[in-house]
Amino acid sequence: MKSFTSAALFLAALATASPVKRQDLDFVFQITGFTASKIHNSGFCNYDFDVGVPGLLNGTAHCRAYLDSGFSGATWLANVYEGAGNCDKAGITWTFNDPIPEGKDAHLNVTINGYKGLYTIPADQIIVNANDPENPFDEDVYYGGPKDFVITEFEEVEDKEE
Ligand SMILES: *[C@@H]1O[C@H](CO)[C@@H](O)[C@H](O)[C@H]1NC(C)=O
Ligand SMILES: *[C@@H]1O[C@H](CO)[C@@H](O)[C@H](O)[C@H]1NC(C)=O
Repeated sequence: MKSFTSAALFLAALATASPVKRQDLDFVFQITGFTASKIHNSGFCNYDFDVGVPGLLNGTAHCRAYLDSGFSGATWLANVYEGAGNCDKAGITWTFNDPIPEGKDAHLNVTINGYKGLYTIPADQIIVNANDPENPFDEDVYYGGPKDFVITEFEEVEDKEE
């Protein structure tokens, strides 16, 4: 009984502790198998990856999106707006933006339980293949960077779930 009481007090103390600053976080978001590509002769883009957070998330979550870039001859990947990027575990959302026109860095944000992880994808990792210079509808666009990477920069967001 006594040990239960001290455990409860300890948990209560944790719950009232001041918010964790991002430099104090002792976890990273591990992204594996990241793919993003526009479907050939279509404006639709497919996104697929797994995210794991040892110490915060049990196992990995599988994340996907399928969205229209607006133009089958697009030289960009579709914007994954707030609410469009989901995963198979509750409390995880993500967004992606590849600025138009191309040549600027793209951004991936993954939010897990109130921590928003920020990741920059260098512009040269978004590959644009103009297969047929006569036919802009024939263009392929895809992420050509490493499939596995780690997100180490975080922001705290308001709607933290316990
Ligand atoms: C983690 O996930 C596994 C498999 O889904 C489950 O058996 C286990 O109970 C989970 N552990 C926790 C702490 O939730
Ligand atoms: C990612 O989060 C940062 C910081 O909150 C924000 O400035 C940026 O617009 C977000 N990017 C995406 C793709 O949601």
